[in-house]
Amino acid sequence: MSIITAEPATPLRLTGIRKKFGGIVAIEQFDLDVGAGEIVALVGDNGAGKSTLIKIISGLYQPSEGEISLNGEPVVFRDASDAREKGVEVVYQDLALVPEQPVYMNMFLGRELTKGPIGILDRKGMAKQTQELVDTLDVRIPSARATLSDLSGGQRQGIAICRATHWASGIVLLDEPTAALGVAETAKVEELIVKLKERGMAVLIVSHNMDQVFRIADRVSVLRRGTQVATKKLSDTSHNEVVAMITGLVS
Ligand SMILES: Nc1ncnc2c1ncn2[C@@H]1O[C@H](COP(=O)(O)OP(=O)(O)O)[C@@H](O)[C@H]1O
Ligand SMILES: [Mg+2]
Repeated sequence: MSIITAEPATPLRLTGIRKKFGGIVAIEQFDLDVGAGEIVALVGDNGAGKSTLIKIISGLYQPSEGEISLNGEPVVFRDASDAREKGVEVVYQDLALVPEQPVYMNMFLGRELTKGPIGILDRKGMAKQTQELVDTLDVRIPSARATLSDLSGGQRQGIAICRATHWASGIVLLDEPTAALGVAETAKVEELIVKLKERGMAVLIVSHNMDQVFRIADRVSVLRRGTQVATKKLSDTSHNEVVAMITGLVS
């Protein structure tokens, strides 16, 4: 007797994505699946098209051609908030947070909890949920009520990733999340990214840091001047090979 189980749909599938800005082709043709509990690194030199691709998946840009599917369903994002509503969250290098606000307000930015008939801010509720989330993900901050600007860069990036985890229903995109951080802070943020994977998220991370790619990713996809060179399991490639694919120079 056999038990038939349906294959779960891939959280994120990109098929034949192409992007032109006027006459310039920023992305030639891009195909990628990112599975649940998988980290895929997107690498390439400056101007290769990495951020453009992240912006397409997060609804900021429309692809010129091609299709995005979430959990097996083709989607068209009207804008970034539409993509967020459909479960795609993004973390940028330049921390899209509000420094003068408390941590809990940053966690709920644009999606604040309210209470009562006139909808006053439920600060207590937001602070409580924020504290639970940072505790769960082991992000050490003085308090959910601390002002964001009093935290270190690593703590702030930790908050940005907690926010993405809280709101994402499956897909987290990270565009150079550790580019502005020191070594110790980078290590903490990498731990957090691995936790996203353990929670079953589909994670796509843009990184310049090849050691980081080999430390945390399962697969790597290489873009060179808008062309997808290859997608490989990290266990099937080497540092040198990835660098050769990025630069187009075979060493
Ligand atoms: N809004 C835009 N308008 C015109 N060209 C753009 C725009 N955004 C990106 N590009 C171009 O697309 C290419 C890829 O850029 P980008 O995705 O930012 O690269 P990366 O993130 O890999 O460094 C570059 O040639 C860049 O100049
Ligand atoms: Mg970029």
